[in-house]
Amino acid sequence: MLLSCFAAALVFGQLSFPFAFDPSDFKTCPQVGFCRRGRALAKRATESSQWVSPYSVRPESVVLSPPNASLSAQVFSSLYPGIRFELQVDVLEHGIARVRLDEVNGMRRRYHQAASWALVAEPTLMAPGVVWRFEESGIRALYDDVELEISYAPLTVKLIRAGREELVLNGRGLLHLEHFRTKTAAPSTALSEYQAVLHGNTESNGWFEGGEADGYWEETFKAWTDSKPKGPESFFIDIDFPHHSHVYGIPQHATSLSLRETTGGNQYFSEPFRLYNNDIGGYDADSPMSLYGSIPLMHGHSTESTVGVFNLVASETWVDIFHPVLNKSTATHWISESGIMDIFLLPGPTPDLVFTQYASLTGTAPLPAYFALGYHQSRWNYISSQDVRDVSRRFDAENMPMDVVWLDIQYSQGQKYFIWDNQSFPDPVEMADELAAAGRKVVAIIDPHLKTSNDYPIFSEAQDKGFLVKDAEGEIFVGQCWPGSSAWLDFFNPQCQNWWRGIFSLNSTADGWRWAESTDNTFIWNDMNEPSVFNGPELTMPKDSVHYGGWEHRDVHNIYGMLFHKATASALVHRTGTMKRPFVLSRSFYAGSQRFGAIWTGDNLGTWEHMAAGIRMILSDGIAGMTFSGSDVGGFFGNPDPEMLVRWYQVGAFSPFFRAHAHIDTKRREPYLSAEPYRSMLRDILKLRYSLLPVWYNAFREASVSGIPVLRPQYVVFPKDSHGFEIDDQFYIGGSGLLVKPVTLPHVESAEVYLADDQVYYDYFDHQVHQGAMGGRYVTVSAPLAKVPLLYRGGSIVPTRLRPRLSSSLMKKDPFTLTVALDKTGSTASGELYLDDGETYTFEQGELVWRKFIAYPSKDGQASLIVQNHNLASHTSARDIVGGAKFQFYDGKNAYAREIDSVYVEQIIILGLKEEPKRDLEIDYRGGSYGMNNVLSSSLTIKNLGVRVVDDWQILVQW
Ligand code: NOJ
Repeated sequence: MLLSCFAAALVFGQLSFPFAFDPSDFKTCPQVGFCRRGRALAKRATESSQWVSPYSVRPESVVLSPPNASLSAQVFSSLYPGIRFELQVDVLEHGIARVRLDEVNGMRRRYHQAASWALVAEPTLMAPGVVWRFEESGIRALYDDVELEISYAPLTVKLIRAGREELVLNGRGLLHLEHFRTKTAAPSTALSEYQAVLHGNTESNGWFEGGEADGYWEETFKAWTDSKPKGPESFFIDIDFPHHSHVYGIPQHATSLSLRETTGGNQYFSEPFRLYNNDIGGYDADSPMSLYGSIPLMHGHSTESTVGVFNLVASETWVDIFHPVLNKSTATHWISESGIMDIFLLPGPTPDLVFTQYASLTGTAPLPAYFALGYHQSRWNYISSQDVRDVSRRFDAENMPMDVVWLDIQYSQGQKYFIWDNQSFPDPVEMADELAAAGRKVVAIIDPHLKTSNDYPIFSEAQDKGFLVKDAEGEIFVGQCWPGSSAWLDFFNPQCQNWWRGIFSLNSTADGWRWAESTDNTFIWNDMNEPSVFNGPELTMPKDSVHYGGWEHRDVHNIYGMLFHKATASALVHRTGTMKRPFVLSRSFYAGSQRFGAIWTGDNLGTWEHMAAGIRMILSDGIAGMTFSGSDVGGFFGNPDPEMLVRWYQVGAFSPFFRAHAHIDTKRREPYLSAEPYRSMLRDILKLRYSLLPVWYNAFREASVSGIPVLRPQYVVFPKDSHGFEIDDQFYIGGSGLLVKPVTLPHVESAEVYLADDQVYYDYFDHQVHQGAMGGRYVTVSAPLAKVPLLYRGGSIVPTRLRPRLSSSLMKKDPFTLTVALDKTGSTASGELYLDDGETYTFEQGELVWRKFIAYPSKDGQASLIVQNHNLASHTSARDIVGGAKFQFYDGKNAYAREIDSVYVEQIIILGLKEEPKRDLEIDYRGGSYGMNNVLSSSLTIKNLGVRVVDDWQILVQW
């Protein structure tokens, strides 16, 4: 029996550090039948100058449907004249083109429900429709500034802008949907027919599908045999970006943000990128291997435009990438095991528009509960309720902010989730209440496997109701996980999701088991949901297991984890009479998971290499919508030395999700345990995170509306600056103007930070000026261990709260400081501040405050500056504020605004004034030195202001 790394750790009670995973537990492309077939087809195509795709459209079958934004047509393959396919092309809102291809009246139906889970709603067709132009060789849709060209023979689909091909489907003729067939109807084995076909003989198929039925009907990997009862059903498609030098996305992989070649002249990896959710603890820090989540979304980017492609498939998928012309074009080849072809072409043409287009399909990450942006303290395991109380107290004693204490699997009795181990946790409700009184929360782990024990009510109920995944023989699938013998909940069954919600209900009297020993301050961690099965192939569920609706696990594998996440998040929203924002962390994810909560990068190593890899992974997650992401601070495996721990906290403090976590065999490393001077450094980093919570909340609000990620990589912020296209070790926080480059190497005293524009930047801590340059340049920013390289971009106004307290909820009425980082002219800047109750959904009814701060020169000349606070909410529509027209008009005196009407701006710090201002009696003035070239910026601090956040005001600074 194969044990996972965790089981091995438990069973053998030891682990050597650094922990290394065994790559042979996971398949490579040559070990996977359909991947071999896909790559072989590409090879045959590349080797033949006469290669032609056998797929074509029957022109007479083309039908346009009202409102003129949809087309359907029959497609056939010259290899299999008896098999029919249907092409459906929809032009959607935002100019997105959806291209679907499915077999018609085949022996079976291909899996076609991925869209119903991933998409936020049925996409809306573009109204009032598009102009279709029929031509001899095909049909062309004209809309916005693009054309969608569908060629009949061979079938190709191209997105064209200003005469430039932006995206091309099947341009290289690799499209293939293997039709369902019987075992006896194996294809001809005559490879020699290849030549004959190219010369007009379309009778045979060997040249196309290959010479043998490679891995069609059964496949074996190590000790496991996949029975493959449906036979071959994979599909392949080439998706090319003829004018895009860089591609990004398709998380989750631990590698560079800009994806490197897997085939071709500059091949970096020999394997394709794989999308197949796996439990790979201690993964390789630079690899195309699949990890815990899979999002089949890719950006193509160049200085001219950005486009996206979303290949909505849930089965195992491999993606080859190469550049036909280096620094100019990118070719990709997607090889999927099963399902219909359902591809969305996102026209961009800017990164921000691609984000919004993708968000229109799969939704955005909703505004999280405010506490979730604070610091999370976890380890495997806090062993008792006393331990939890101690941790909380020690944070208090050391004056360290912290919002959440996490409980790993040992809180539960024999890993029967929901059932507290009453020896160690005799008083879970009192424990949670005590934390709540200190403004803190508890997060408890709940995994999707259930101990197969009749004294476990959750398992018994799930079994009685038929909510468990079945094996290929129709029996309940039983495998090994933490509790030993386990069964897995089947969230594809809507009834199972409803029942799951009921378990969390804190006030329902309906039948069924309820988690009574919980509170509305207890939040949830959904782990192991790839799903992880210790004795399964590749540590997961056999592909021939069967889900609700009769679908094989192979069809839905990458969605499984998301449905668990979804069900839990929805359970938390509705567990009391008042809807509250949930917090659920999931390890596994898929397209759309952003709607349900946060994720993290799984079981990393406590090494510098993994610290750096985590940043790249978080950036890549954000590209694909999964913006609420973080990595285990300190590394899951290993015992980081003090220097590494400090740097890791700096990385964590600048990740959307900030949690320290560690393996059960590691030494305790809570920040209060560090010796001086490290302890003070850690305290300062925690305080820095809490000071910047308003910036994080602003960024999350914007992401919740626009889909633009909270952490923005260089190419997203400066899409026309090609020097930044491969930079993935620095990033911007939302639209705040804060630029961060965490240090991820030992013994470093400074960092080289790339500035893309001719703008002035100011060091966050000492206000040193760094001057950017047109065309970009690197500047040296001091970075001794206690300091993370963090810059204000000139032109920004950044709100902070400089009185960090022991938890985020204790800061809700604290005053603000505004830092006005003037742009290079020394006269303008802007920023914003969004606030609401941080807990409920009343913001959707307009209970919020959204302010805009601007600084500009006053009209009467150079010698003065006005800093102004005005109400952004009343000038904007509800759609812009909360992402949907949910309230009619904004009332500046709403209940929340009244609640915080005593909250004021206590000081304004102005950076970059070109001249020394006049002293003014009303202004408590502290100057810096003046000058703009690598010296400290001028800095004017206006203290004791007492102007209210909710009021409109302006302040005049004169000199
Ligand atoms: C695996 C998770 O990745 C890890 O974070 C957790 O501590 C263990 N499971 C135990 O629950």
